[in-house]
Amino acid sequence: WPADTMNRCLLDWYGRCGRDLPWRRTRDPYRIWLSEIMLQQTGVTAVIPYYERFLAAFPSVAALAAAPLEQVLELWAGLGYYRRARFLHEAACKVVSEHGGQFPETPEAIQALPGIGRSTAGAIVSIAFDRKAPILDGNVRRVLCRLLAISGDPRSSKVEKRLWQCADALTPEDRPHDYAQAIMDLGATVCKPRRPDCQACPLSGLCQAFWQGIQEQLPQRATR
Ligand code: ADE
Repeated sequence: WPADTMNRCLLDWYGRCGRDLPWRRTRDPYRIWLSEIMLQQTGVTAVIPYYERFLAAFPSVAALAAAPLEQVLELWAGLGYYRRARFLHEAACKVVSEHGGQFPETPEAIQALPGIGRSTAGAIVSIAFDRKAPILDGNVRRVLCRLLAISGDPRSSKVEKRLWQCADALTPEDRPHDYAQAIMDLGATVCKPRRPDCQACPLSGLCQAFWQGIQEQLPQRATR
């Protein structure tokens, strides 16, 4: 099946069922960046109050850079993975010192900031700037492994390479912002790690794992 069939189904579903989340009401790259860092290891429900408090205290990247690290860590307390807060502050200082306070717009410049890997850079470019950039976070990885029945350890370099190629091939030139939000929402709410809700999935008709009845076995667990 062609990628545009998939995208039509996905974006139509997102229009009907997509969640209204605070970071979906902005295109400010600083706010998108903050949301993506918070969401890296923490679920949406836990993130929302932290996101609101953090932005009330630091409404701009300049405000974050000017704050003492202790205050940043205090606002992060309870979210876990505190390295994220240190990187966030360090990156804010870099945006001010190296980019004149303007959040950079290219995937390369964004990825050069501390705490931002390829997938988070792709999410920021897609969501804030509406430009095509592939994303491969945990949600997207699971959706792609099932959709294309990709077996093997998803963290192995061979599978990882294939997944990035698929992520790139499926990301549309048209509406990358909506695509990014839609595919991450699908992974979070429908194509869940356990008991995926295939009845509600707009892509089940295209899903190779669903047709083979192996959706719960994918992505394969890493073997050690
Ligand atoms: N997980 C990571 N990024 C997300 C986003 N923008 N929306 C919902 N869940 C996410």
